[in-house]
Amino acid sequence: MLPNMLRFCFTTLCASKASPFPLSISISKPIHKPRSQMASFSSSSSSKLLFRQLFEKESSTYTYLLADASHPERPALLIDPVDRTVDRDVLLIEQLGLKLVYALNTHVHADHVTGTGLIKRKVPGVKSVISKASGATADLYVEPGDKVHFGDLFLEVRATPGHTKGCVTYVTGDAPDHPQPRMAFTGDAVLIRGCGRTDFQGGSSEQLYKSIHTQICTLPKSTLIYPAHDYRGFTVSTVGEEMEHNPRLTKDEEKFKNIMANLNLSYPKMIDIAVPANMACGVQSNP
Ligand SMILES: [Fe+2]
Repeated sequence: MLPNMLRFCFTTLCASKASPFPLSISISKPIHKPRSQMASFSSSSSSKLLFRQLFEKESSTYTYLLADASHPERPALLIDPVDRTVDRDVLLIEQLGLKLVYALNTHVHADHVTGTGLIKRKVPGVKSVISKASGATADLYVEPGDKVHFGDLFLEVRATPGHTKGCVTYVTGDAPDHPQPRMAFTGDAVLIRGCGRTDFQGGSSEQLYKSIHTQICTLPKSTLIYPAHDYRGFTVSTVGEEMEHNPRLTKDEEKFKNIMANLNLSYPKMIDIAVPANMACGVQSNP
């Protein structure tokens, strides 16, 4: 057991005590400690991120596949899978020889049904993950500061409510052997040159402004931003690029709130189906 780190091992995939990769698949609760100690927590200097950005065209949703390809078990996780593309995602994971351990959602989506429930049925042992603040049902709940471990890599959980009350951003670690630049999976909190609407699901433009500026804009400017959606063909941005060119991020709070209050967007056509299903991680869509 690593010192100063409360760790909870949720799956039988956790390595035994004899393994050179102890507790490599787990979610940990942080205890604040000096940076020098944080840097020593990883057990390997050869971690290698395998990364794929996948697209679902009906809802223009990005699903992200991340795996520690240098770990013997090649543990992997999916962020924001969509029900329509679960077969594609599962096939890719099989072809790449990965072991899927987590299916994460950044929030309770209103425009598509999450693939989490279907994946759990197709790939035994996978655990669904969502924020505790979302109020949704899942196998595991994350809170701000938690780390979702896969092999020797992890995603840090940052609370970014405002689009919904339970939105989180998952950020790759900052240890030397973790991906550089860092990667932030922002869900709908920050989109490329935009942001998620704030007029339903407990949304709040005031809260979103605060989330973006305290949790995302404070990351290194080189941090790559991978959103949950894009409608114009963009695939990735950076924190610095969005701070300079995102027309909503360059405004002060009052102007931001004014923009969000006057979007005049139509009622999402999928919301009445998607939200109830996604409150149960999509399993209602697959009785
Ligand atoms: Fe959303």
